[in-house]
Parts: sequence; structure tokens; C-alpha cells
Amino acid sequence: IILAAGKGTRMKSSLPKVLHPLANIPIISHVIDSCKTAGIQDTVVIVAPGMSDVTDVVKPIATATQLKPLGTGDAAKAAKNILNNYKGYIFILNGDLPFVKPETLNKLHDMAQETGLAILGFETDTPYGYGRLITDDNKYVTHIVEEKDCTEDQRNIKLGNAGAYCIKGEYLFKWLDQLSNNNAQGEYYLTDIISIAAKDGVASTYALGEITETVGINSRAQLAEAEKILQQRLRLAAMDNGVTMVDPDTVYLSADTKFGNDVVIEPNVFFGPGVTVGQGTVIHAFTHLEGVVIGKNSFVGPFARLRPKTKIGDNVSVGNFIEVNRSEFKDGSKSKHVSYIGDASIGEKTNIGAGTVIANYDGFNKLNTIIGQDTFIGSNSTIISPVTIGDGAIIAAGSTITNNVKSNDLAVGRAKQVVSEGWAVAYRERKNKGKV
Ligand code: UD1
Ligand code: CA
Repeated sequence: IILAAGKGTRMKSSLPKVLHPLANIPIISHVIDSCKTAGIQDTVVIVAPGMSDVTDVVKPIATATQLKPLGTGDAAKAAKNILNNYKGYIFILNGDLPFVKPETLNKLHDMAQETGLAILGFETDTPYGYGRLITDDNKYVTHIVEEKDCTEDQRNIKLGNAGAYCIKGEYLFKWLDQLSNNNAQGEYYLTDIISIAAKDGVASTYALGEITETVGINSRAQLAEAEKILQQRLRLAAMDNGVTMVDPDTVYLSADTKFGNDVVIEPNVFFGPGVTVGQGTVIHAFTHLEGVVIGKNSFVGPFARLRPKTKIGDNVSVGNFIEVNRSEFKDGSKSKHVSYIGDASIGEKTNIGAGTVIANYDGFNKLNTIIGQDTFIGSNSTIISPVTIGDGAIIAAGSTITNNVKSNDLAVGRAKQVVSEGWAVAYRERKNKGKV
């Protein structure tokens, strides 16, 4: 049961908290991924009325609705219709606990076999905002106290509640029905089931999680903190897989970024969702990539922007200040300086000169241009889509191309140069006479 119906008030956002992204994937999708990897079979996500955006993101996982935000205990109850007769162990996970490791979930499951209930805890000098696990001499948890309900002494306890529980199915709803809202926040706290279980003679065990896997996200500052942890993890994984990062701290990755071996990434590069970079490719500094597949041994940037639905082949150079959108650069093609390439296909070994612009938009529609292989597009050309330029054609620098160009033809689309001999001398004399 993943709890996601809370208002997320502390985020001050119109977007539900669990949909805020970490490495470009919603918080809740990280939780779901951990569950899947841990081998948890059936999952239900608890949402609030009107949270159809969350329902869409978690599909095909089922959702159940908590009608009013009466607290985490009340939220878990919303799964009753679906799981009431469930005989196995049930995990309850806060939807804002993105980094809980699958191994840790399995450990909780193992521990729950001992008594019927296991909780994930963590130790820190700064447990502020978290509930505290109160333990007895045998290291069983006797109850959990929310920060707002803590006494002065309890506030100094360094054992925090991470918000992940594993409970024997037959106990769960019986205990949830006994919750009351007699506390500082007037809410039904899920955490109160520990003392209810104790009354039933069931002791609660706890496992200790790593501090980086137990962060809960309540505010934008915690979101940023979590992003930092995740980025560090993703960068280390990339480097472990053979990627060189000159200054790792300045590289931003998405959870789905994929690299071949011997990719080199210079400082300040942004990888949006859906990027794959092939073996031996160099991404130069200050490049922004999103939805792009890049082949082997290519060069991108510095200061390149590759936008979604772009494909870059092998041995391609896409250099300084090049923007590419919904286009393909086939193997061995080059565009090295200051260009916009939109809705175009660039053939093998073709050279796009500095300052070339593909005018792909007529104010109403996006139009396609096809440029063949081994063509040469002179600098500062404007290619007005839709056109097709054949293999081996040459476009003279400064041309405006509005019609198709056949294979191996030269197209010159610019005003002819006019020369007036000695005109400049006569001009200066005329002007100087006018001066006193
Ligand atoms: C909760 C725990 C706290 C723990 C912390 C770990 C309780 C009472 N407290 O506090 O002990 O240290 O998580 O991060 O459980 N939710 C609902 N419906 C509600 C309220 C919340 O579905 O009515 C969901 C939220 O969307 C969220 C999760 O439950 O995903 C946790 O709620 P939140 O308000 O963030 O609890 P914390 O105050 O962080
Ligand atoms: Ca929380």
C-alpha cells in the first residue's frame, strides 16, 4: 500500500507532492520501482479525490481513494476493500519515500516473520520532523511518537521512523480500525498501530536503513536534498560503467540516461529524459540534451542543444551553438558552428556550414527537409522547408533555398555581386568637399 493522498501542503504546489520529479521521474515512480525490484506482487496506491494525474502516472497499478485527508492511518484503511482478506504480508510505504532500497524491503519482510510487524528506522543526529521510534530493553519498538507530540526528552531520540512498514495481512485492518485521532494534529496516525499491536501481544521489530534511503520529502528544500543524493548515485553508477566525467558534480542526469563505455562528459552538461550516448562519444561543456539517441565516437557541443526526437549517428560532429530538433544526423555528418536544424534529415558525410538555418515553420505547420549524403551546405544558408537536396549537391554560401536541388547540382540562391571600380575614392572626395 503506497500512501499518496496527502495534500503535500509544505510543498506549496498545485502539483501533487508525489508527482514532483527526481532525476526527471516522479517521486512515486521511484517508490513503485523499488517495490517491483523487491518482488512485491500486488500494489495499490492511495490517492485523494481529483488526483487523476497520479492515477495516470502509476497505471497499471491500481488506486484506491481516501475521501478526506484524515491522516496516514486513515489513508491505509482505504485499501481495505482490495486487501481485506489478503493472507500474505502487506507493506505500507509513504509515497514520499523515494529511495528505499529493494534489499531493505526484503529485509523488513524477513524481520516481520519474527513477530508479525517490522518497521524501517534510521539513526541521525538531526531527526527533526520525523516520528521517533521508542524501544524497550529488548530493542522492540513499543510505540512511535510524532515530532509534534514529543516530550522534550523524546525529541532527543535519534532513532527516526522512515515511513515503511511490513505487517502480517490478517492483523492489519483489525488494528487500523482501532486508531483514534487524539493527538497534536487531530489525525489518524498509522504509527499508532505499533502500540495497538503491543496490546494484542505482537511486538514490533525494526530494521535500520541507510540515511540516504530513508529521506522523506515534505518541502522543496528536501526535494533538492533528495535530488542531490540521487544525482550522486547516478553519476557514480555511470562512472562505474566506464564513463569519464571531468567534473561530476556539475553533470545532471536523468534516471533513464544510458551510456556506452568511454563516453567523456565535460563540465556543466544536462541530460533530460530519454538520452542514450554511444561508446566513445564526447559531450563537450554546457550542452543540453533531451530525448536524443547519439551514436558512437561522435562530438557534441560545447553549448549544443539537442531536443527530443533527435538521432545522431556515429562519427558525427554537432558543435558550438547548434540547436537540433526532431532531426537526424546520419553517420559522418557535421554541423560545427551556430545552426538551427529542425525537422530535417542530414545524410551521411554531409557538411552543414556555419550559420545554416532550416526554416521549418511557416507560422502554421512544421515542414520537413531532406538533405542527401555527401552534400555541402555553404555557410549562412537558409533552407526553407519543405525541400529535398540530392546526394552530392553543393549549396553556395549565403543562399536562400526554396526549391528542390537535384543530385550533384550547384544551387546559388543569392543576389549577384555588383562591383563599381574606384567608387569608394570618388565617394570619399564628394563627402569631404562638403566639410568645412
Ligand atoms: C510520516 C510519519 C512519521 C515518519 C515520516 C517519515 C505518520 C503519522 N507519521 O510523517 O512518523 O517519520 O512519515 O517520512 O505516519 N498521506 C495520505 N493521507 C493522509 C496523510 C498523508 O495518503 O491523510 C500520505 C502522504 O501523501 C505521504 C505519506 O502519507 O505520501 C506520509 O504523509 P506525510 O504527511 O508526509 O507524513 P509525515 O508528516 O512526513
Ligand atoms: Ca513525509
